[in-house]
Amino acid sequence: MKVTNFGHACWHIEVGGKSLLFDPFITPNEIAALVDINSIECDYILITHGHEDHVADVESIAKRTNAKLISNFEIINWFATNKNITNGHPMNIGGKWKFDFGTVTYFTAQHSSVMPNGDNGGNPGSFLVETDEGNFYHAGDTGLMMDMKLIPKLMKLDFALLPIGDNFTMGINEAIIASDFIECNNIIAMHYDTFGYIVVDKQQAKAKFEATGKQLRFIEIGESFNI
Ligand code: NI
Ligand code: MN
Repeated sequence: MKVTNFGHACWHIEVGGKSLLFDPFITPNEIAALVDINSIECDYILITHGHEDHVADVESIAKRTNAKLISNFEIINWFATNKNITNGHPMNIGGKWKFDFGTVTYFTAQHSSVMPNGDNGGNPGSFLVETDEGNFYHAGDTGLMMDMKLIPKLMKLDFALLPIGDNFTMGINEAIIASDFIECNNIIAMHYDTFGYIVVDKQQAKAKFEATGKQLRFIEIGESFNI
């Protein structure tokens, strides 16, 4: 599995011979200016919730690539009705579906969800992805929540993408507790530095994780890791 950071909560993951793109927010993201969205290929676009900083580039990438959208029922309907993107797979909280790259569970998130034009964005969510190459959690935007304790009962995670920027989501201290709840010590940071409200001291964040015997990783925008 090859995992590439495109900034904020946007990740590109190659797994099972397919490419998944999560929460594309690239062209409005000043710190992701080096990413060329026209070079991004993907078979699926997974959307955790309707906020602009998670859906801004869905339309252009979906129309260029014809990738299938995976999200909650309301978001899939919104893109079909408002953007004429009908290649979508609607889900809702707690449900799972077997795709050709693996099984996706649309899991909870403690947050809000509204589309850029103010329409209902359904309930915010996160993704649990199980594949032959490993399992991972894209937590979306969320505060620390007890539901995370359910995840190790569902699957063993190989890595987790957790928001750590605070203010709109959980911060570092909560992410350390989340790592315990999900029983995963391979934590990759996301949702930081994009706006003034979520600027993070990376050295301090890493030190806090290390003080608890854990590791937090920051992947540079445009950089990849293999797992
Ligand atoms: Ni949000
Ligand atoms: Mn966000």
